[in-house]
Amino acid sequence: MNGVKISAVGHYAPAAILTNEDLEKTLDTSDEWITTRTGMKRRHIAAPDEATSDLCIAAARHALTNGKLTAPDIDCFIVATATPDYPFPATACIVASKLQAGDKPAFDIEIACSGFIYGLTLASGLVRSGIFKRVMLIGAETLSKIVDRKDRSTAVLFGDGAGAVVLEASEQNSFLSRELGSDGTKPEVLCVISGGSRRPLTAEAIAAGEQYIQMEGREVFKFAVTKMIDATDEALRKAHLRKSDLDWLIPHQANKRIIDAAAKYLGMPDDKVVVNIQEYGNTSAASIPIALSEAVAAGRIKKDDLIVFVGFGGGLSWGAVTWRWA
Ligand code: ACO
Repeated sequence: MNGVKISAVGHYAPAAILTNEDLEKTLDTSDEWITTRTGMKRRHIAAPDEATSDLCIAAARHALTNGKLTAPDIDCFIVATATPDYPFPATACIVASKLQAGDKPAFDIEIACSGFIYGLTLASGLVRSGIFKRVMLIGAETLSKIVDRKDRSTAVLFGDGAGAVVLEASEQNSFLSRELGSDGTKPEVLCVISGGSRRPLTAEAIAAGEQYIQMEGREVFKFAVTKMIDATDEALRKAHLRKSDLDWLIPHQANKRIIDAAAKYLGMPDDKVVVNIQEYGNTSAASIPIALSEAVAAGRIKKDDLIVFVGFGGGLSWGAVTWRWA
């Protein structure tokens, strides 16, 4: 067996919901502006005492239940997040221990919103090489904790949540191809400026709001549309597939207009594109696995369906994976 399949999926979103109407009360914004520019209506917000690992654990339990598995059945835990519990240790270590998985290897990857796509490639490789039989990959974020609530250009965009998948050795191989890339020449286009080794967090940095997400929205928008299309094209080419072979597009949920532009190019009708941005906003590394989990739960994804997972984010970074559902 040197194939890999997704044998279980799950997700979790915090209970508290922040609506566009709520945002209208604290910011110079409107439901009309947010809806037409982004497609977002609501986002889930973690409680003050709720950390990223807590969201991971809830999503992981959901996936384990759906897969009729227990935590010790998992051989390795990977968390993709830009909002870990701590700068270190890795959030995945906390998740594996609290799930009582039993001293299993666990580590984080950080590539912002591209985290699930990179993680899917990495975890699939670990399974296909025979290193691990079952890997749990969780995309999880508490972006509300690093958003400046007073900055209308970012405060309306981001939400919290987690999605988990179990990747398992299989005779059939679901992972068909990938296209990954990065361009780190302008990291500040989408960035948390302070809190790392280049600019440690100081009182001055905090006063300047450098602990929060900063983004040049228009620049990211242009990059996103191009990279979603190019990465999908290239992943399809590597798998010797055509656009018309695709059954599902499951994109990163950053902006409905970005998703629509990519879907139009790919010739995908609305009912073949999984969109839940109206309910969650942008949950970065969590957005694709949450969308997948909801689509599977709704019975939309059928055996042998061909899916493209595609995303982009800070780095800048991007990626697409073609996947045959087993
Ligand atoms: N409410 C009302 N007006 C607003 C708001 C708001 N919430 N935010 C910005 N505006 C104003 C701006 O100030 C500007 O006003 P001006 O013309 O008087 O200067 C006007 O709206 C237009 O602003 P733009 O930035 O040009 O608006 P745009 O249509 O580009 O939409 C948006 C902004 C939604 C941010 C869009 O650029 C976008 O989605 N970009 C990509 C974001 C993205 O994908 N980020 C990924 C992050 S993932 C990660 O790695 C964490």
